[in-house]
Amino acid sequence: MSIHRPIHDVNHFLCLVSVLGDKPFPCFDDMAKLPYLERCFHESMRLYPQPPVYTRRSVVEDTLPHNLGVIPSGQDILVSIYNLHRSPASWGPASQQFEPMRFGPLVNGQPNELNTGYRYVPFSAGPRRCPGDKFAVLEGMSIWAVLFKRVDMTLVEGHDVVMTRYGLARFPNPNTLFQAPL
Ligand code: HEM
Repeated sequence: MSIHRPIHDVNHFLCLVSVLGDKPFPCFDDMAKLPYLERCFHESMRLYPQPPVYTRRSVVEDTLPHNLGVIPSGQDILVSIYNLHRSPASWGPASQQFEPMRFGPLVNGQPNELNTGYRYVPFSAGPRRCPGDKFAVLEGMSIWAVLFKRVDMTLVEGHDVVMTRYGLARFPNPNTLFQAPL
């Protein structure tokens, strides 16, 4: 998140402070009062989906739409969620940018596969989609809420977060993060 300053904007910080008050940790009811933080979590999963690739095996022969060809029965398929989530065709020219509000006003709720036309699928979709998605987002938000109330993290200039060949987001330099107390 340190790469993407919007999460550190003053309004966001004040919101975090006013919701958490003196509490060291957020409680369940606090989560609904932090929709922007949740948005940032979703936007992070759009840019850095984990897993970045799904595997599937076709059970029967299938014909893809848009003349993309025929998949034979028994074929193993790799679906790149990373590419799907960053495609300018789906997300416009700013597809690589961190823009939490790209999913619409906060009153519209949080993104999922259904309300994004299957453009945003970090938890997969269909009958085998992740059953732990809500819990995972709450976990992430809790960690961030505790962290961002205490430290202001800034990425050292010139460093980038990249995906490795193993599909993991990593910092090229171990000294990439600079931490300062707020
Ligand atoms: C940010 C965190 C998480 C992400 C991005 C994530 C993502 C995913 C994805 C993409 C799948 C489908 C994989 C596939 O179909 O090939 C999946 C499956 C699954 N996830 Fe998660 N997950 C997360 C956290 C969790 C948590 C916290 C739990 C449990 C508390 C959980 C439980 C499961 C289970 C049981 C399945 C298998 C579902 C099935 O095969 O029917 N996940 N997850």
